[in-house]
Formats: sequence, C-alpha cells, structure tokens
Amino acid sequence: MGCGATTSQPRRFELRPSLSTVPLLPFRRRPAMQDWPGLIEGYRKWLPVSSKTPVITLREGATPLIPAPTIAERIGRGVKVYLKYDGLNPTGSFKDRGMTMAISKAKEAGSEAVICASTGNTSAAAAAYARRGGMRAFVLIPDGYVAQGKLAQALLYGAEVLAVKGNFDRALAIVREVADQYPVTLVNSLNPYRLQGQKTAAFEVVDALGEAPDWLCIPVGNAGNISAYWMGFNEYKAAGHSRKLPRMMGFQAAGSAPLVLGHTVEQPDTIATAIRIGNPVNKENALKARAESNGDFMAVTDAEIIEAYKLLGAGEGVFCEPASAASVAGLIKRREEVPADSTVVCVLTGNGLKDPTTAIEHNDSKFHTGLDPVTATVAQVMGF
Ligand SMILES: Cc1ncc(COP(=O)(O)O)c(C=O)c1O
Repeated sequence: MGCGATTSQPRRFELRPSLSTVPLLPFRRRPAMQDWPGLIEGYRKWLPVSSKTPVITLREGATPLIPAPTIAERIGRGVKVYLKYDGLNPTGSFKDRGMTMAISKAKEAGSEAVICASTGNTSAAAAAYARRGGMRAFVLIPDGYVAQGKLAQALLYGAEVLAVKGNFDRALAIVREVADQYPVTLVNSLNPYRLQGQKTAAFEVVDALGEAPDWLCIPVGNAGNISAYWMGFNEYKAAGHSRKLPRMMGFQAAGSAPLVLGHTVEQPDTIATAIRIGNPVNKENALKARAESNGDFMAVTDAEIIEAYKLLGAGEGVFCEPASAASVAGLIKRREEVPADSTVVCVLTGNGLKDPTTAIEHNDSKFHTGLDPVTATVAQVMGF
C-alpha cells in the first residue's frame, strides 16, 4: 500500500487561511544568513570594540522576526504581531548577545576567569563563551530553581557550577563581592558590555521591519534587556534608521514583580524561573525606559504565562520558555489598548527546549501511552 493510502477516507488537514495570508516581512536588505559573522562584526561600528578586541563569537544574533497570526487574531483591529525569537541564538537565549561582548572585552583586558549569578540562561551563555575564549567560568545558581536544560548546558560547556541555598538576588550579591575581591570578571548585566551587545536585538528589529514597532513587549527580570533594547532603539533613531520609538511594555511574573509593585520582593516566586528575581539591578535604566517611551510595567500571573506559552506552541509553532511567554501574556492582557493597525513585537528571550519539564506538565495535547504496537490500534486512536 502506498504511503498515505488507507481503506477509510482520511481526514483532510488544511492550512488555516490566516496562516497562508501572512504578509512577508519587508526586509530592507537581502538576507544572507550563511554569511552572518556574529553581532560584533555585524554591528561593529555601534559597539565599543577596536582592532585590539579578540572577537569571541558563536555567530550569535540575526534571529528571526516571526509573524504571529494566531496572536494577532486575538488582538484584532488589524494589529500586526511579530515574535523576536531570540531562543535561536547559539546557547538558546538572548544572553548570547551580551556575552559575546562581555567575554571578548574580558579577554581583551587579560582576564582569565569570569563569574556570574544566574537563573540559568546567563550561566549557559557565560560558560559557552568563556570556554570558547579559553577562560574559566564560575556560575552561581539558586539551588533547585534552574531549568534542567540550562543546568545541562552549563555543565556540558565546562563551567564550575556552584548551587547556593538562596535565590538569584542573594547569588548576585555574592558574585559582586567575589568579583570585587578576586581576579575574576563579573559578566552579569551590571557589566556594561552586556547591554551593549544586547542592544543589537533592537537594531535587528528595525532592520527587519524598516521602522521601529509601535509597542515592544518584553519579559523583565533583572531589567537588563529592556534597558538594552531602549538604548538600541534610541541609537538607531538618532542615526536616522527609524522615525519613531516604541512604547516599552515590560512584563513581570506576578510573584516576582518588584518594578510593578515599586519595591523589592524578598521571596520572589513564579513558574517562570528565568524571571524569578526580586531586586532588579538595572531598575533605574528600566524606569527611565518606561518614562521616556511612555511605556508601562505590568504583572502577569503564572496561569496567564502558561496560557500564552501553550498558544505560542500549538497556535504558532514556536516553542519558547515560560519566562519568554510573559511578553505575549502581557500583550493579550493589554490588547484593548493597542492602537488599531499598529505593529507589536513580542520578545521571546529563550528557547522552550531549555525547560522540557514545564512543557511536559503544561500542554493540551493528547498523549496516548501503552498502545499495542499494531496498525489497527494506532488508526483507532487516531479516530479513523
Ligand atoms: C528567558 C529569559 N527571559 C527574560 C529574562 C529577563 O531578562 P532581564 O534580566 O534582562 O530583565 C531572563 C533573564 O535571565 C531570561 O533568562
């Protein structure tokens, strides 16, 4: 019997009209991904590097801006929604953008070791880039609150992993002291080179759209990324690459929302472990971004995050980690306020494969187990 031939009539699976009518992005320049040299070379004139800087790169950046018709449908009124999928960076998160800069500059300065506190993604990126640059990487993580994939990465990339019985904020206080007292370079987002690298994501958004979006929705933890995006949008506009600036809409998990509450959260809690942060170090920069852009911060509950996470997966085919889905959960929550026909970019900061446990525990898919290995049984379960 030929492939696909069955005795009963198979159900037809059709592409939904909304998916087939998505307009292509108006790229300003011809995309040539295979030639992409990494973001330091790609955006060299915008970055504090010189001919003396050894460029430590894994060809990070140049991540796709993906149309999100299912989410746009939920927002309605002609709003266009795009996902800046930074989970496609080499270690699976936006942290690679900052880390190529921080590690290259540490190497230039003669550093032999780096240290960071991390909810997981920073440790993976720090480890990968440090080892590539021939340096030691020490990473402090909150014991028991780091997604499996991220821990696996840090270990595989050859980091020296120290799990502390405390949250991220405590771990960060320790690494700051260690970096002050010993010859190791701090590569958390307090390191200014991190934000310099991360601002290139804003450049890419403008390069792809030909203009800045009207809204940028972004998850906020330590508040480095929102600050970096704001810097990038401003620099590009000042150079004439865009005419406008987006409203910066930052979303925190309800159990870890110091910027929404206006005070430190001593015991931050959320399923989105990447943003389980109670005392953001880049608070001042983030407040400035909010004020200058007429933006806002808002909390989204874990249930709202998981709903958006599932919608991204099953509705858009995009697998991000729970923290990343906070940007989409926030957009859905604020949908009434989005101007008609505007353009919104939601930043998806990390790849869903980093946290398989949450995906397996939270999905609406049918998972039939223990089936007899017989065609008739499989066909019956399929509904034929
Ligand atoms: C996946 C993910 N999303 C969002 C964030 C928050 O970024 P920031 O700490 O720069 O606000 C982090 C930080 O670790 C993260 O790993």
